[in-house]
Amino acid sequence: MATQPVEATFPDAKHRASTSTQWWRSAVIYQVYPRSFADSNGDGIGDLPGITSRLEALAYLGIDAIWLSPFMRSPQKDAGYDVSDYQDVDPLFGSLDDFDAMVARAHELGLRVLVDLVPNHTSDQHAWFKLALESAPGSPQRQFYHFKDGRGPNGELPPNNWLSMFGGPAWTRITNPDGTAGQWYCHLFDSSQPDLNWENPEVRQAFEEILRFWLNRGVDGFRVDQPHAMGKAAGLPDHPDIERAGAGFIEGEPSPPMWFQESVHEIFRGWRKILDSYPGERAMCGEAYVLPLEFMALWVRPDEFHQTFNFRYLDCDWQPAMLRQTINESFAAFDSVGAPSTWVLSNHDVVRHASRLGGDYGRPTASNGIGPDDPQPDNELGLRRARGATLFTLALPGSMYLYQGEELGLPEHTSLEPQYRQDPTFFRTKGIRVGRDGARVPLPWQAGTSATNGFNDTGAGWLPQPDVYRQYSRDLQQGVTGSTLELYRTAIALRNQLGLGHGSFEWAEEFVGETSLGFINNGILVVHNFGSEPIALPSKKVLAASFTETDGKLEPNDTVWLRL
Ligand code: GLC
Ligand code: CA
Repeated sequence: MATQPVEATFPDAKHRASTSTQWWRSAVIYQVYPRSFADSNGDGIGDLPGITSRLEALAYLGIDAIWLSPFMRSPQKDAGYDVSDYQDVDPLFGSLDDFDAMVARAHELGLRVLVDLVPNHTSDQHAWFKLALESAPGSPQRQFYHFKDGRGPNGELPPNNWLSMFGGPAWTRITNPDGTAGQWYCHLFDSSQPDLNWENPEVRQAFEEILRFWLNRGVDGFRVDQPHAMGKAAGLPDHPDIERAGAGFIEGEPSPPMWFQESVHEIFRGWRKILDSYPGERAMCGEAYVLPLEFMALWVRPDEFHQTFNFRYLDCDWQPAMLRQTINESFAAFDSVGAPSTWVLSNHDVVRHASRLGGDYGRPTASNGIGPDDPQPDNELGLRRARGATLFTLALPGSMYLYQGEELGLPEHTSLEPQYRQDPTFFRTKGIRVGRDGARVPLPWQAGTSATNGFNDTGAGWLPQPDVYRQYSRDLQQGVTGSTLELYRTAIALRNQLGLGHGSFEWAEEFVGETSLGFINNGILVVHNFGSEPIALPSKKVLAASFTETDGKLEPNDTVWLRL
């Protein structure tokens, strides 16, 4: 085992991109949420030219790829996850030319680009849905979606008991062109997001064309939205225990009729063939919220998705016993099909981990959010833990997803007032769940240069930043030793240098207990302190520390990497 000291070096991304094979197995992939990343024209909404202008900042961070949340044409009822034209850019974000320029610049910098594909539902403003509304019940146009007659003497009751994930029933009744009440359509999300009927071969064919459209424009792959929702049990039967279905997945119970249907796998096999027919290594990651993990692993068999988000890891409490079990299950499940695990701590649907870990907010993927009337997180503790959690996670073999702003240590906006809320969850639950807006606030780039701290010049923002964002601005962190940004940058560089992403894994038993977890990857000992007392460390070279310089001991909530 080499004993020489290892310092982080920062090779350019282009070099990494050209030398890696099966890059997705170990990649650090950064989620760009276009509305909130960078705004080039000052209208308060981030856009593609804004992203292009800031790509160098992402290359600086050392990531391998970006995933862009949807920027396609959309009425923005669910922040772009309601697509009305899959083959165009929404004017809010720019044009197809802007997209091409963004991809070209990303590739120049050695960054791969994944785009979000939303196949479970379209917008109600999509041409297919408009046509379906104009057409008669039972017509081929209606077969693009799930239209059904209602129950009850006059069809006034929804066709079944399914619930929308955003609250309320999963069905909305339409009005016929002559003004009479008509059939109902199914929407597992907002009523503006009708679910497509994936039994219809025309739907399947249309999406294959959509895949090719973006692959032809040079994208390196896709993040696929809600793939586990696309298949529906024949006849759309009632869920036997609907209150529980609304709460999400229930471990150990049979598949509900609206989730995890076997029929979807054939679709992804077809997509994989399309991706594989393109030069380069195109990859797709499924947002498959499918548990237990051995079941999720079926989605990443060698001829299906390359990756799925490891929601088990995201959802498991930040405490050692559960985390240990989760990591064990992750390796067991994904190894069994030869797939890498992904690791993720934050995204645009959950409370940012810098706030989440500063309080007790339950299962993150419940997407409830934190509002001004809720107990407020301790953001100082949260950030300290978040830095520890990130450094711990970045040392695990597999691929890591980062959510924009976490590299700045950004907290959730937890005091956002109701009048700014835009998430349909807030409206459909009448504010009981405040929803996800607090994780989606525009990024602060330059402290004090505008009311949005350099998100744009005008200070306009589709959501306001909380006052504290100024102190997290990127310009205050770049090049500053000890900043969260430099911690991420150093950790990512070391991760690459030490080969941790495609490394090995074994528990360091002497650090596995009630107050700590430790593991060894490629000769690097990684320890996190979950307890309230410092932990004594072996006298080995410290490669990275999440917070304080360790002096033979590891403080509570901190992580350290030691060269054995
Ligand atoms: C996914 C997206 C989320 C969206 C939902 C419906 O979970 O991440 O933002 O609201 O799907 O498309
Ligand atoms: Ca803009």
